[in-house]
Amino acid sequence: MIVAIDGPAGAGKSTVAKILAKRLDFLYIDTGAMYRALTLKALDNNVDIYDERKINDLALKTIIDLRSNPDGSLSIFLDGKDVSLEIRRPRITQYVSDVSKIKGVRQVLVKMQRELGKKGDCVLEGRDIGTVVFPNAEKKFFIDASAEVRVNRRFKELKGLNQNVAEVDVAKDLSNRDKIDSTREVSPLRKAEDAIYIDTTELSIEGVVEKMLELCK
Ligand code: DC
Repeated sequence: MIVAIDGPAGAGKSTVAKILAKRLDFLYIDTGAMYRALTLKALDNNVDIYDERKINDLALKTIIDLRSNPDGSLSIFLDGKDVSLEIRRPRITQYVSDVSKIKGVRQVLVKMQRELGKKGDCVLEGRDIGTVVFPNAEKKFFIDASAEVRVNRRFKELKGLNQNVAEVDVAKDLSNRDKIDSTREVSPLRKAEDAIYIDTTELSIEGVVEKMLELCK
C-alpha cells in the first residue's frame, strides 16, 4: 500500500509522515531530502545551479540512499556519505527549489522514488507524490496550515537543529519556496483531486495522525 502525503513546507508533513509510517509499520520516504541531497552535491562541486544540462548530468551520476533508523527517523546517504544534517542547512534550503524545478532532475528522482515504492508498503512525503509519482496511491493526503503557523513551526524545527536563523528569514524562505514550488512548469505543488485535505493550523500532531490512521485502516 502506498500512502502519499503532499503539501507546502512547514505544514507538518514530515512529522506526521514519520509517525504514521512507524504506527503502520510502513517504510518512510522523504522525497524532499532527495532533492536536498542533489542540491548539496551541486553546491559542493561548484556546479552552476542554473545550468540545467550540468545539473541533469549530475543527477544521473548520483546515488541517494534512504535508510530507516529504529526510532523512525531517516538517514540520507549521498554517494555513500551520511548527509542527513548537512541537507537541512540554509545554504541548501536557499537553492533546493531551483534545483527541483529542473525537468531532468525530476525525471531521475521520480524514477528513484518509484523504485523505492516498489519495496513494499510506504508512506511517501513530498510535493507531487499523489499527482505524479504515485497517482494510483491507495491513500492521498494534502497537509496544509496557515503561513504564519508554518513559519513558526519551521523556525522551531531549525532551532532544534541548533541552526541560528532569524524568524523573518524563515518567513522569506518559505514564501519564496512556496512560490517556486507551486508555479513551476513541471509537477507543481497541488492537491490531487482525490487527496484528503487536512488543515493542521489548529490541530495537534497526535490529532492529525489519529485522523490519518483511521482513514488508512
Ligand atoms: O520538503 P522539503 O522542504 O525538504 O523539500 C525541499 C524542496 O524540494 C521543496 O522546496 C521542493 C522540492 N520537492 C519537490 O519539488 N518535490 C518533492 N516531491 C519533494 C520536494
